[in-house]
Amino acid sequence: MIKSILTASIIILCISQVYSQQPINNSSANHSAQSPNLISVYADKPGSSVQPTMWGIFFEDINFAADGGIYAELVKNRSFEFYKPLMGWKILKPDTTTGILIINQSKTNPANPRYARITLAEGEPSFGLSNAGFRGMGIKKGMAYHFSILARQMESSPLKMRIELVNPKGEVIGTTNLAPEEKEWKKYTVSFVATATEPKAKLNLWFEGKGSFDIDIISLFPDDTWKNRPGGLRADLVQLLADLRPGFLRFPGGCIVEGRDLENRYQWKKTIGNIEDRHLIVNRWNTEFAHRLTPDYFQSFGMGFFEYFQLAEDIGAEPLPILNCGMACQFNTAEVVPMDQLDPYIQDALDLIEFANGSANSKWGKVRTQLGHPAPFNMKFIGVGNEQWGTQYIERYTVFVKAIKEKYPNIKIVTGTGPSPSGKDFDYAAKELKKLNAQIVDEHYYANPEWFFQNATRYDNYDRKSFKIFAGEYAAQSKFTCSPDNQNNWKCALSEAAFMTGLERNADVIYMCSYAPLFAHVDAWQWTPDLIWFDNLKSFGTANYFVQKLFSNNKGTEVLPMFLENKPITGQNGLYASAVFDKNTDEIILKLVNSTEKAQTANVVLESTKKLGSKGKIIVLKSDDLNNVNSLEQPILIGPVEQELIIKGKTVNPILEPYSFSIVRIKVLK
Ligand code: AHR
Repeated sequence: MIKSILTASIIILCISQVYSQQPINNSSANHSAQSPNLISVYADKPGSSVQPTMWGIFFEDINFAADGGIYAELVKNRSFEFYKPLMGWKILKPDTTTGILIINQSKTNPANPRYARITLAEGEPSFGLSNAGFRGMGIKKGMAYHFSILARQMESSPLKMRIELVNPKGEVIGTTNLAPEEKEWKKYTVSFVATATEPKAKLNLWFEGKGSFDIDIISLFPDDTWKNRPGGLRADLVQLLADLRPGFLRFPGGCIVEGRDLENRYQWKKTIGNIEDRHLIVNRWNTEFAHRLTPDYFQSFGMGFFEYFQLAEDIGAEPLPILNCGMACQFNTAEVVPMDQLDPYIQDALDLIEFANGSANSKWGKVRTQLGHPAPFNMKFIGVGNEQWGTQYIERYTVFVKAIKEKYPNIKIVTGTGPSPSGKDFDYAAKELKKLNAQIVDEHYYANPEWFFQNATRYDNYDRKSFKIFAGEYAAQSKFTCSPDNQNNWKCALSEAAFMTGLERNADVIYMCSYAPLFAHVDAWQWTPDLIWFDNLKSFGTANYFVQKLFSNNKGTEVLPMFLENKPITGQNGLYASAVFDKNTDEIILKLVNSTEKAQTANVVLESTKKLGSKGKIIVLKSDDLNNVNSLEQPILIGPVEQELIIKGKTVNPILEPYSFSIVRIKVLK
C-alpha cells in the first residue's frame, strides 16, 4: 500500500514537471533557401571563456546502467543477497534429494552475509543451478570468458563442477570444469572460449559426485572489457562515453544518491575494495514505477567509487561525485537525519576528498594506493545532495559547506535547486543559495521540446553577480516527464540543440551541462528518454547523443558574439545559433539549428582582421521526420555527416537543411 502511494506520488510530482504544450515554432515555415539571414560573427572580439567542464556526463545506476550495463559482470545475484536469495537462479533437476541451503552468517560477515551449500548424496544424478543473467547474457563466439567462484569443500570426497554456457534452446556454447578442493574459503578461477554468439545465454553450473560444498560470489566476465581490466567495464559502452570527450563525469546519480530511505542511501565507503566486501543494497528504481517494475534490480557496487574515479580519468573527465547530505529521496520517504547527527555524513565527504586527493601516507590516500592508484585523482568538485529542496536542504547544505571549506578551501562545491527549474521551491533555493554565496548550482529541466526552444534565452539575462550554473539534468520529453512512451526522437534532440546554443552563448554563467539519464537497457529500463541504449551485445547513441557529441567535440575555448540583424539568434526565422573560437586549433566554430521544415541559407560574415582558410567543413545532423529515432537496428539513422565548405573571403553561406543542426568550422590563418 505504502509502496503504491509512493509510486503514485513520484508520478504526480513527475507530471507536475510538465510544461505547457505549445506547437513547435514554425513561424518561418515558408522561408526559402534564398532568405537573407544576415549573420555577423565577431571573430576578433572573443567574450567569456568556455569552461573545460562545459559539456559532461551524468551517470546514474538507473535502467540497468551499472549492474547489467557498463559493469561487465554477467551473473545476476552472484552472492545470493537479493531479497529472495535465489532470484535470478533456477534449480536444475530439483526432483533429486540433493539440496541447496542458503546460509546466513550476518554476524561474522555483515557485508556479504549469505552463501549457498550444495549437497549431493552417493549415486544421485548431477544437480544444477542456472543463472539467467541480466535479461540473458551477451556471449560472443571466440571470446574468452573468465569464471570465478568462492568455494570450500565440506567433506573429504570432493564435488566437481561443470560450467556451461547455453543458448535458449539449451545447446551448450561453451564449457569447462572446476574442482574446488580446499576446506577453507578460496577463490577459484577458470577461463573458456565460447563457440557461438548469443544475446540471451544462460550460465549452468552442474555439481557432480558425492559430498557438499559452499559457494559464493559466482562471477563471469568477458575478456574484452575496457582496457582489458579483469572484472572491468563493458568496452563498447565506455567507448561511447569516451567519444563524447566529456569535460566531467558526475556520479553516482541522481536519486540513487539519496536512496528510497536513508538505510539504502549511497555510501561510497561500502563500494570500494574486494567485491565480496561491497555491501549489496536494493536499487531504488526497482519498483519505482508501477508501469516498469524491475524487482530484480539491486546494486552490487561492482561499479563503485574507485571505478568511477578510474573511468573519469580514463576518458579525460573531471570527477564530480555527488554525496548524500542526510536526506533520503523526497519523492519517496523524505527521511532526514537530525541536524545533531549529521557528522558521519560530513565525515564521509571529508574522507572522500582525502581518498581522491590525499597523499599515499594519509589514511584514505593509503586506501586508494592499496586499490592500485598511488597518484591522487586531483578531484576539484564535490556535490552536496542531489535533487533536494526546502529548508531542510539549505540547513544541511550550510553545515556541509562550512566543514568542507574549512578543511579544503579550494574544492568547488556543487549544490542544487531541486527537481524543477521554476516555481516556489526553485525560487526559494535560488534566493537562499545566492545569499550563501553558493559556487555552482545544479538546475534540472525535464520538459517538452517547446520548452527547450523557448528557453534558448533562459540565461541571456541571468544575474551575472550570482552563482554559476550546472545544467545538471536535462532531456526533452516527447510525451511528459516519467511517461513510458517518451521517445528519443529528432524533435526532442533538435530542441535540445537549440537550448544548448543558449547555454553556450552564456558560458560566462554556465559552467557544466549534462543530459540525463545516460544509459538504458532495452529490456530493463525504468525511465525514458535516455542518451544511450543497449542490449546484451550491442549499443547505440540516440539522436540526442549526437547532439551532445557535436557540442562537446566542438567546444572551443571562447564565446564569439554572433548576431542576426544585431540580435542574438534565438528563434528568428526558426534559427538558433551560437559561436565559439578554439584557441587550440585556431578555428571559428558555428553551431546553427534550423527548426523549420524549409532549407535556409545562413549568410554569415566573419568579422576578422586575419585571413581565413578558403575551405572549412560543415557537419550536419538532420532528419526530415521529427519522429525519427535511432535504434539497435538503425543505430545511425540520425548521425552526423561531414562535408567540405567553401569560404569566400570573410563570408560563408551554409545551407541549413530542414530540421537540422549544423556545425561549421573555419580556420583562422596566422
Ligand atoms: O534522471 C532521472 C532522475 O531524475 C534523477 O535520478 C533525479 O535526480 C531526477 O529526478
